[in-house]
Amino acid sequence: MKLMEGKAGLVTGAGSGIGRASALAFAREGARVMVSDINEESGKETVRMIEEAGGAAAFFLCDVSNEDDVKELVDATVEVFGKLDFAHNNAGITASIAPIAESDSADFDRVMKVNLYGTYYSMKHEVRAMLKTGGGAIVNTSSGAGLEGVQNIVDYVASKFGINGITKTVALEYGRQGIRVNALCPGITSTPAVEGWFAAAPEQAEAIKATLPSGKLATPEDVGNAAVFLCSDLAGQISGVTLPIDGGFTA
Ligand code: NAI
Repeated sequence: MKLMEGKAGLVTGAGSGIGRASALAFAREGARVMVSDINEESGKETVRMIEEAGGAAAFFLCDVSNEDDVKELVDATVEVFGKLDFAHNNAGITASIAPIAESDSADFDRVMKVNLYGTYYSMKHEVRAMLKTGGGAIVNTSSGAGLEGVQNIVDYVASKFGINGITKTVALEYGRQGIRVNALCPGITSTPAVEGWFAAAPEQAEAIKATLPSGKLATPEDVGNAAVFLCSDLAGQISGVTLPIDGGFTA
């Protein structure tokens, strides 16, 4: 039997990178997946990839920084699949790179709105849905930048520390009602955007790779597989965890 057989859930930011790999991994393990993204074309491409691999998925357009959108996404998932067993809150952005004195307050607002408010809205409505069916599992994409300070991305770091905080809080609040909540803290991951930056700055890329104990970047699949594990019954006693996926970088 597959790990997620009979389960249904949603993945946000599933049109690219980590979210796409996660949606594909959930479907590969037998789950029905509501693929959600702010980009309709790339989200629908993820659905096509899942269906081509023999899985079951649907698409729902959602901007996670808009609470009404998020509520509609959760409602639609329950309407289409009958329940919400799992949710991977993954949509996230970065903004300009600068030390705080040169940073732009509008960027700070934008990053907090998508990364932190988006995760807050998602968890709020997902928990409400899960309470109606006796529980479920939520995993949030945080970052290694939610565990340690990182220079020049104060907005992003603030948002990811915030995600880790609400992950632990909600894990405490709803454990008795059968809801588990965890966060993934990937190190640099070889998504298309990261591969693009590395191709443009190969020397910097090599210098970064040299700092990694494993000598290699995480792949989107490494992160997606961890999301599936944490949402599966194999992780039934794991909640409130902020899991580094970085080949030992934060060890
Ligand atoms: P990506 O840019 O490849 O994918 C992000 C997806 O989110 C895109 O499909 C985009 O359309 C969607 N999105 C953006 N804003 C949205 C919104 N307001 N509502 C709904 N969807 C929205 O990025 P990647 O790298 O796959 O990142 C996914 C998550 O992983 C983010 O939360 C990011 O902070 C986190 N992360 C990424 C790392 C990396 O090195 N790539 C490392 C650690 C964490």
